[in-house]
Order: sequence, then structure tokens, then C-alpha cells
Amino acid sequence: MEICLFSIVSSSPEETIAAGERIAALLRKGSVVALCGGLGAGKTWLTKGIARGLGVTEEVTSPTYTIISEYEGRLPFYHIDAYRLRGDDEFATLGADDALYGNGVTVIEWSERVAQSIPDNALTIEISILEDTHRLIVVKEATP
Ligand SMILES: Nc1ncnc2c1ncn2[C@@H]1O[C@H](COP(=O)(O)OP(=O)(O)O)[C@@H](O)[C@H]1O
Ligand SMILES: [Mg+2]
Repeated sequence: MEICLFSIVSSSPEETIAAGERIAALLRKGSVVALCGGLGAGKTWLTKGIARGLGVTEEVTSPTYTIISEYEGRLPFYHIDAYRLRGDDEFATLGADDALYGNGVTVIEWSERVAQSIPDNALTIEISILEDTHRLIVVKEATP
């Protein structure tokens, strides 16, 4: 079962960053955040805010070919973009366990593409486009 913790309506990219900073306050060593939502929904902007909230000063970007990027913050911060992966089998070849089961925080964009690889206790965040620059951000937690 999943419990919806809260939802946020953002009306600009800057508000999405602020939402990410608030969400970061919920995260601890080993936390995993699974982000779903279509192209241009705002997953990367939310990731920028989460990173900022975790003390990452380097700018988080979406490199074309890098699947896993590591940044330094209060905890190690891993940004995974599964967009170009074929699925869980390909993900398994990347050695993401240090990120997913280590001492940092991991955010995975397009988590629905690697659904079997997401730890059970991950937070799930669904972002959808409402209209123009409005985005609905729904934060959910799985129950044991
Ligand atoms: N409220 C909003 N939050 C986030 N992005 C927004 C918002 N309104 C408009 N945008 C635009 O939508 C796009 C979101 O891009 P991005 O975060 O890279 O999406 P994704 O990673 O989900 O593909 C950007 O071009 C951004 O300027
Ligand atoms: Mg993105």
C-alpha cells in the first residue's frame, strides 16, 4: 500500500526548486526518491531543489549520456536518469547499488523504467503538468 504524504502545486520552476528543498528535509542517509512523470514535467528542476536542500553547491544538470552522477553535499548525492535505459536488466549492469544501498541520498528520474530496481522503502514522487507553468507534485511513501 502507498500513503500519500502531501502534495504541492508549483506555479514556476523556482517554486519547484523550493519544493525540492522542503522534500530534502525528509531525507536521510540511504534515502531513495523515485521520480515519475513525463518529459518536461519538472523532474530535473525538483532534483536541483532536493540537491540544494542537501547542501550540494554544484549545479545539477541532465547530461546526455551519463546515467549516474555523484555530487558532494552534506551526504553523498546521486542523481540517476533512467530515461535512456532499456529496463531493469540494463540498470543492473551499472553498479548502482553503492548509490541505492549506501550512505548517501539517491534521486532517480524515470523510475518507472526501472521499477523492479527501486528499493521498497523509497519515497515516490509523481509530477504532472497541470497547465502552462503549473505542476502537481505528489509525494508518497510505501507501507511495509
Ligand atoms: N512549475 C514548474 N516546475 C518545473 N518546471 C517548469 C515549471 N513550469 C515550467 N517549467 C519548465 O518545464 C521544464 C521542466 O524541465 P525538466 O525539469 O528538465 O523536466 P523533466 O526532467 O521532467 O523532463 C523546464 O523547461 C521548465 O522551465
Ligand atoms: Mg529530466
